[in-house]
Amino acid sequence: EEPPAAAAVPQAGQDGLVLLRRIGRVDPADLDDYRAQGGYSALRRAFALGPAGVIREVLDAGLVGRGGAAFPTGRKWEATAGRPERTHYLVCNADESEPGTFKDRVLMEGDPYALVEAMTIAGYAVGAHRGYLYLRGEYPRALRRMAHAIGRARARGLLGPDVLGQGYAFDIEIRRGAGAYICGEETAIFNSIEGLRGEPRSKPPFPVERGLFGRPTAVNNVETLVNVLPILERGAAAYASVGTAQSTGTKLFCVSGTVRRPGVYELPFGASLRELVELSGGVPEGRRLRAVLLGGAAGAFVRPDELDIPLTFEGTRAAGATLGSGVVLLLDDTVELPRTLLRIAEFFRDESCGQCVPCRVGTVRQEEALHRIKDLTGAAAAGDIALLREVGAAMRDASICGLGQTAWNAVESAIDRLGVYAGALPGSGPAAGTPADPVDGG
Ligand code: NAI
Ligand code: SF4
Repeated sequence: EEPPAAAAVPQAGQDGLVLLRRIGRVDPADLDDYRAQGGYSALRRAFALGPAGVIREVLDAGLVGRGGAAFPTGRKWEATAGRPERTHYLVCNADESEPGTFKDRVLMEGDPYALVEAMTIAGYAVGAHRGYLYLRGEYPRALRRMAHAIGRARARGLLGPDVLGQGYAFDIEIRRGAGAYICGEETAIFNSIEGLRGEPRSKPPFPVERGLFGRPTAVNNVETLVNVLPILERGAAAYASVGTAQSTGTKLFCVSGTVRRPGVYELPFGASLRELVELSGGVPEGRRLRAVLLGGAAGAFVRPDELDIPLTFEGTRAAGATLGSGVVLLLDDTVELPRTLLRIAEFFRDESCGQCVPCRVGTVRQEEALHRIKDLTGAAAAGDIALLREVGAAMRDASICGLGQTAWNAVESAIDRLGVYAGALPGSGPAAGTPADPVDGG
């Protein structure tokens, strides 16, 4: 079995924890401990508000999805709840396979009843009586703890035919992934649960209309759902008073790479990337920060002189980057960037489901070009960079799902922002992207 998640305990020096507040303080096996630490007060408030009232609170709070795409959660719930079909489903996406993402694991391992309670609230709001927890296959500890928590909640009438004696029936079924990255894509999850080949479906129709078993389905990431608890406990206005107008609340960031204190950090939206890098101790002593990969393999590299980027959805977008699922991967000056790019390209080639041509062929061509380019100079290198741009544009424009659409993002940003191959190009001087404002470990 894998070792415990890197930051099962919140990092020292952090105040204002909302999502991580119980991690390391609550016994993950003990429902009474969870209740003693505020558990199940949000569900009681949900029953008092009614489904439409819960959705109103979530809309007013400005909650957007934390899986990576930042779609407004309240709109998703409203659309699902409003469908005329008798059966609706809730799916919690706990597949968490974006390289460098491990926040949902910390939540599930450290505070499993919080997710059970949050799924119950979400199910109630969207009119679902069954929720599926689609759990990453490589998370055996999270599986054990979630299965235990679901069993205990059921035994105590917090799941089942009459939740909390309120006449609402809801239960949760766990389904495990089997190691395919693409099965974290929401419609591929449906295929996986239904026993079909794990590949995405075309959208639209969106899951809110036609999802699991063809029924209206709300699909939400673990962190998104857990945010519903403080929204209901504290009220939408108090929740939205943290962060910025467009990015409300707090965010979990997964800091990894060449960094002194890797782990999961919770910060209010609006903190800068520099603050987060400093909180994590920066790169090891005597090294210089070369780049930060923001948003994961589908995200973008930023330079050390760009560390003042605000960690908000709008701020990263304006800077031509993305928050994605909260990946913050630090790379110091000992890292060979061309090798990192090759590893990313290999990952996408490997994980492409092969359903559509731009991605199936494009990810292979991208990897081939990156292999060649590291040994080339002059016109030959320029030719392969032009090829990468052409292939990247085709993948972005014509792929069915996010995997193909984003498979060129990181490589593109390494070329354009870090100038990773600049020294090999005709007429080039010294490589661009030399850190102007390094954050070193000293
Ligand atoms: P998307 O933009 O297609 O959709 C986001 C969500 O909004 C989905 O649930 C979708 O059904 C819903 N939606 C969008 N338009 C809608 C509409 N008009 N009506 C109703 N619902 C609507 O993005 P996608 O492909 O679901 O996710 C892409 C993101 O996933 C990327 O940002 C990437 O960073 C992230 N990602 C996260 C991973 C992780 O492990 N957390 C793994 C891989 C990717
Ligand atoms: Fe499959 Fe890639 Fe097409 Fe997505 S973009 S459906 S992963 S081949």
